[in-house]
Amino acid sequence: MRHFLPLLLLAACTTTPAPTPAADAGGIVDPLSMPAQATVDLNAVPSAETCKPCHPRQAAEWSGSRHAYSMRDPVFQALVGARHAAFAGEQDKFCVQCHSIAGVRSLAVAPGFEFAVLPPVPMEGVTCWSCHAAASIARLHNAGLVMATDGAMRGNLAQPMANPQHGTQAAGFLQSAEFCGTCHEVVELHGLPLERPLSEWQDSPAALAGQSCADCHMPKYDDVAAVGGPQRTGLRSHRFVGLDPPGAREATTAAEQADWAAQRDALLATAATVTVAPGPVKPGGTLTVAVTVQNKIAGHSLPTGSTFIRQCWLEVRAVAADGKVLYESGNFDANDDLRDRWSALAPYGDADLVSFSSAFVDGKGQPTLFPWLATEHHRNQLRAGEKRTYSYFVPVPADVTGPVQLTARLRLRTYPPFLVRLLGLDAALPTVLLTDLATDATAVSL
Ligand code: HEC
Ligand code: HEC
Ligand code: HEC
Ligand code: HEC
Ligand code: HEC
Repeated sequence: MRHFLPLLLLAACTTTPAPTPAADAGGIVDPLSMPAQATVDLNAVPSAETCKPCHPRQAAEWSGSRHAYSMRDPVFQALVGARHAAFAGEQDKFCVQCHSIAGVRSLAVAPGFEFAVLPPVPMEGVTCWSCHAAASIARLHNAGLVMATDGAMRGNLAQPMANPQHGTQAAGFLQSAEFCGTCHEVVELHGLPLERPLSEWQDSPAALAGQSCADCHMPKYDDVAAVGGPQRTGLRSHRFVGLDPPGAREATTAAEQADWAAQRDALLATAATVTVAPGPVKPGGTLTVAVTVQNKIAGHSLPTGSTFIRQCWLEVRAVAADGKVLYESGNFDANDDLRDRWSALAPYGDADLVSFSSAFVDGKGQPTLFPWLATEHHRNQLRAGEKRTYSYFVPVPADVTGPVQLTARLRLRTYPPFLVRLLGLDAALPTVLLTDLATDATAVSL
């Protein structure tokens, strides 16, 4: 592994190993997604580069997407390194089975593999082939796709035009939420559910309305599907906009990034609302503040996906007219970390903190950051459409200068800085992205 992780190695040595995996000489095995014998010939997997001349729009959009970045993300690589250290390489395929189907099923990714020397196609991550060569769905988690070997590209174009590069096959399932769920539902080797946007979607208003993942994450447009092809309606954006900024910034122009930011802001603007409602107060008393937050996403919980890495929380502040801070929860310590269990400077310093992220607990009841050490996954996500109210109690000194300004923000951050530092990735700290999903403010006269 490229990343040397002294801290994590230490953690791996002092904790109980997870249950023994079904191991052979090639590490853990799953006949579908982590086969012992190669089921994919890497030479037969086309690079996204080969699609570019005929599908320039799809190729350009995809190349800035997280799917294209899924093997290059330094946080991913560092965590794979940590798992490598914890299991002496035995489980090196586990994390890669979805991030690169081609890599694991061709055995290019095997125990002890190095990202730096992998061939280009596995490094393309969730490349075009991962979706368009999927023949059928075998299970709804952990890369549950059966891959075709006929070279045909699957899609839903009506009467696709013939082309010299590839055959075509109709595949209605590509539009379904279940298709996305094959990779987006992540289950740990010992059975603990880690990510479950499909399960969340299954009882959501979006599912009832027949709205799938693609309807929000792959918005429609009208154009040609291929150079020289007929004009078509209802084609799908391949940016796969979500929370993250474009992955491979070097592959995207400034204009592309601006367009990406606009699409991301538009998506996130639909996610949530916050309202702050003060009760009555007199100087020398306590001001009760009701903060109501609602997940407006019809399709899944907030946050979703890697909820154990993401931070999603309420920040509440009360400030007197002279600038004196009367109350604060959800603010940062001097390291830009929340004052929670993981803060180096103020651990457990924010007793009122309301966080919607999830947390792992190990067999000894202790918090852990790593899914392979976890026996429980504690969740506090807001379900699709769910509204909750939290009360905050603000002490108001007798000599306070009014009015008191109250603000509440629902904030979402891609990674906590302490984790980035723990992984030795300080250079990546500037890429941590903090977004305010919703804000409300009001002034209380005294
Ligand atoms: C072959 C596996 C696979 C399939 C199939 C798949 N995804 Fe993904 N997806 C991933 C991986 C892995 C990532 C994380 C990449 C990263 O950021 O490192 C991801 C990331 C994303 C993101 C970015 C999330 C963020 O934080 O910004 C979105 C949005 C997304 N996928 C939507 C979809 C949709 C919609 C579908 C179905 C049409 C789909 N995916 C199908 C594997 C897959
Ligand atoms: C079942 C398929 C699957 C497996 C197995 C899997 N992942 Fe992922 N991973 C995903 C998907 C899908 C996403 C996108 C979720 C999101 O953005 O919230 C993702 C996102 C991530 C991200 C966030 C990247 C970003 O910033 O968007 C990291 C880091 C990551 N995975 C690491 C790992 C590690 C480490 C393992 C092994 C312990 C692992 N993954 C195993 C499918 C998988
Ligand atoms: C020589 C040009 C060419 C190349 C190279 C090419 N395609 Fe195509 N592809 C086409 C044409 C033409 C169509 C049909 C367009 C139409 O009818 O509107 C098509 C259709 C498709 C469809 C839709 C199939 C359906 O049944 O709905 C998919 C998916 C697809 N291509 C994926 C790819 C991928 C992935 C690559 C690279 C691995 C690729 N193509 C490379 C020309 C090409
Ligand atoms: C009604 C629209 C809608 C539907 C349907 C929908 N999403 Fe989302 N999704 C959003 C919004 C808005 C966000 C941004 C908020 C967030 O990041 O949690 C998001 C965020 C995400 C993220 C990034 C989460 C993170 O914080 O890392 C992933 C991954 C994702 N969606 C996957 C899916 C999958 C898979 C499906 C289908 C099972 C789906 N979405 C269905 C609207 C939708
Ligand atoms: C994460 C899965 C995923 C990846 C990766 C992906 N696609 Fe797609 N693609 C889809 C889905 C879903 C559709 C919409 C199918 C439908 O309309 O039913 C689609 C549609 C298409 C179409 C039909 C026209 C359109 O845009 O709707 C073409 C052509 C295509 N993709 C080419 C590509 C190429 C080229 C790449 C790589 C550069 C790529 N795709 C990567 C999922 C994916």
